[in-house]
Amino acid sequence: MKTIAHPNIAFVKYWGFLDEEYFLPLNPSIGMTADGFYVVAEVEEAEEDRFFLNGEEIKGDKAGKPQKLMNFMRKTYGIKHYHVYTESNIPMGTGIASSAASMASIAAAVLWNEGMKVSTEELSRVARVGSGSAARSVPGHFAEWVYGETHERSYGRVVAEKDHWDLSIVTFIISKEHKKVSSWEGHKRANEYNIIRVKNAWKNWWNARTAILERDVGLLGRVIVDEMNGLMAAALTSGILYYEPDTIRVLREVYALDIPAFPTMDAGPTVHVFTLKKHVKEVKSIGEDLDIPVVLSYCGEGVRRKG
Ligand code: PMV
Repeated sequence: MKTIAHPNIAFVKYWGFLDEEYFLPLNPSIGMTADGFYVVAEVEEAEEDRFFLNGEEIKGDKAGKPQKLMNFMRKTYGIKHYHVYTESNIPMGTGIASSAASMASIAAAVLWNEGMKVSTEELSRVARVGSGSAARSVPGHFAEWVYGETHERSYGRVVAEKDHWDLSIVTFIISKEHKKVSSWEGHKRANEYNIIRVKNAWKNWWNARTAILERDVGLLGRVIVDEMNGLMAAALTSGILYYEPDTIRVLREVYALDIPAFPTMDAGPTVHVFTLKKHVKEVKSIGEDLDIPVVLSYCGEGVRRKG
């Protein structure tokens, strides 16, 4: 069984736990699926769980997320043990939601291999237990992760299909080095500044939803930048610095363009710039000027079978 999933880059962020075991968030979130990045997962039944990424075995702490997901699926559905082979073009641990795409593709590959007919909502809940933001990678398209205080009530769903809007993402690959502080540690460290972010996130989620449905790029842009700054403030005040010098260079150039192009960052130095298709060339030219590689994405689908 082979599956493929993409990361979903958040307009409105998930940061901080309501519940650490099930990865329930403190606020709803919403984002766009980035089709320029993928994780393909292939699984085969085995005597014990083992995980491979791009041909290399991952062990110990590095396999923490997929192992947590497998343990949950074993407890819930009585699944077998598996060897899990993932292939990806995403530099891991740099703020491109690689674990979200991985958990979405692994959860689907295993449950479908077991012959289970699970709804997208159910699959989203399951993948979330491996990595919270996978809740939005499962449905794909423009997706939101609804707020719920129990495992049952916390899942992702499509807000609008990918062809609804020609929004694009130009991702600037600032560094390929794995971040030093994991996002799990970041969620745990979230402090009183994060409470302010959470309060804004509720309003931002509703505005982002409206902006998508009405294709209002100005409104969405204000949300995107506010959320980037809110997340960075929450991280900085808990001792985590995600900015690299090139991060700042890109941000300055994007602001200087003075066009509808809106940057965001996740838990890492990577900058994702949301813009309309007609402005992609201008945004990409920043990468050429600064000699920083870029990846272009349009809105992608949710997790699906491959081949
Ligand atoms: O799913 P995790 O634990 O990797 O959380 C990452 C959350 C952010 O990417 C920073 C924001 C988001 O909502 O995707």
